[in-house]
Amino acid sequence: MAIISNRRSVVAQRAQRVAWSGIRKMFERALADPSLINLSVGEPDFPTPSHIVKAAKNALDEGYTRYSPGLGYATLREAIALKMERKNGLRIDPAREVIVTAGAMEGIVLALLATIDPGDEVLIPDPGYTNYEGQVILAGGVPVPVPVSERHGFSMAPDDVQAALSPRTRALLLNTPANPTGGTIQPTHLEGLADLCQDRGLVVISDEVYEAIIYDGARNLSIATLPGMRDRTATVMSCSKTYAMTGWRVGYVVAGVEITAQMQKLQENVVSCVNSAAQMGALAALGGPQDCVQEMVAEYDRRRKFLVSALNAINGIRCPMPSGAFYAFPNIGSFGRSSEEFARYLADNGGVVTVPGTAFGKRGEGHLRLCYAVSMPHLEQAIEGIHRAVKAL
Ligand SMILES: Cc1ncc(COP(=O)(O)O)c(C=O)c1O
Repeated sequence: MAIISNRRSVVAQRAQRVAWSGIRKMFERALADPSLINLSVGEPDFPTPSHIVKAAKNALDEGYTRYSPGLGYATLREAIALKMERKNGLRIDPAREVIVTAGAMEGIVLALLATIDPGDEVLIPDPGYTNYEGQVILAGGVPVPVPVSERHGFSMAPDDVQAALSPRTRALLLNTPANPTGGTIQPTHLEGLADLCQDRGLVVISDEVYEAIIYDGARNLSIATLPGMRDRTATVMSCSKTYAMTGWRVGYVVAGVEITAQMQKLQENVVSCVNSAAQMGALAALGGPQDCVQEMVAEYDRRRKFLVSALNAINGIRCPMPSGAFYAFPNIGSFGRSSEEFARYLADNGGVVTVPGTAFGKRGEGHLRLCYAVSMPHLEQAIEGIHRAVKAL
């Protein structure tokens, strides 16, 4: 019998093309040494509010232990529709224009799978959320970075998007308020982006998971509410950040009927549906009292002001005031070291773990990301450590 040699690797090229996250390295460093102050993790430090936890526990007792509809429970979709109308100014049909997903992450992947074909280019922010690149690659697309500059307050500018367009551009992935910069897209920029997407027939995937964490009385503006944008936009939302529910894995995508129907079909092939009891927790979150959100945001705001003014008081560091999310993105270019070297230096000499800006794309060079979803005493200690390390340079 002839032996057929098969020298193919056991792993697929598609999987190999996806890079490991640059955050992981620093995160593992923090895990290995608990004495370090860890500002590298992007999740709320608050527990999930107790009424939400109680609702999920009750749901289990009441028998929410089976598959739900692929789109999510109708009661939850109705609560989402109400919230979208009140908070985002978008009227949607809960039966056909929303799908509950396993966090925003699954929502982004489903939206990409539903809208792009192999070889299609997808514009992503640089610096931007680390997973966008891998998500686009998984969906068979080609990620194309769009510079998001400090000069524009980290708002994605239509001119920069225009410059990145090609005949193969299919979609624009935007994020406001943004990780890692804490920037928001200015309304005039958002209008320019909407015009451009309509002119070029582009789909928009708008990641607004930090919609509730926004400061100085500003309100999140969803691109889907701009004229002509509704049916070409998939708006990705989540309970993770707003309600301190990162481990619950509940998000949702609001999109036109055509895109939602495709996502519904694909959902069946991926997770079938989102954890049923977690959906009931999300229902309590969206439909219940919102003062817990206001309290958490007020605390993030207090920390934001402290951290940014303390960073700016350190010689050589320049830190713009973030307008949303819970990240500061200081410029450390004046020290003449790469952001990776500088992050390592701060961990070794200041006991503070940060993420180098380059973990978020080439344009993140010269910056660090500091997450201020940690307690005030931790932040104070972090500032002391950074101060000490910079002085010793
Ligand atoms: C910009 C951005 N989008 C999406 C996510 C993922 O959110 P979820 O927990 O809902 O999957 C994160 C989490 O850090 C994020 O920063």
